[in-house]
Amino acid sequence: MYPKRVKQFYIGFTSIFKKITKEDLELVKSHLNEVEYSLFNKYYEYDKKHVLRVAKDIEKICTDEGINNSKKSLLVKTALLHDMGKTKAKINILDRVILVLLSKGLGDKAKSLKNKKVQVYYNHGFMGYEILKDYIEDDEILFLVKNHHINDIESLQCNNDDYIKDLNLLMKCDEEN
Ligand SMILES: [Fe+2]
Ligand SMILES: [Fe+2]
Repeated sequence: MYPKRVKQFYIGFTSIFKKITKEDLELVKSHLNEVEYSLFNKYYEYDKKHVLRVAKDIEKICTDEGINNSKKSLLVKTALLHDMGKTKAKINILDRVILVLLSKGLGDKAKSLKNKKVQVYYNHGFMGYEILKDYIEDDEILFLVKNHHINDIESLQCNNDDYIKDLNLLMKCDEEN
């Protein structure tokens, strides 16, 4: 867990100095319609770069594993939209360090702190689902966004093995970025 956090901070910190390229925007535009693209543009810069890294990792894994194009497109689109809940509060890299320390120090008690950034940090999966459900009809995308930080996947009691497999893939690529 700890080395993964350090890696996440390193990637996040170095991304500050990297620009979103024309190719990045082409990837976004090729997977999102106009409305979804305007939602993507609500992300803070830091989160745009994060979701792009997750989307590229997922795209590569799907290509390597020979996953069909429609599933690949769905997963790349989900990756691009998965942190939509984070548009509810600007959480910078220093905030993220504080939030991780808070969760280490307070455990689950940190979740009940009445602070906007804390609430968005812990609940952005559900918040993203709430935003997207008015624009996205695909049940799987909504399921993945809503549950991408679930602690215990079995507690979802989901009978769709594809959804669970895809959730595991999204969570893995998210954690590494
Ligand atoms: Fe997230
Ligand atoms: Fe994420």
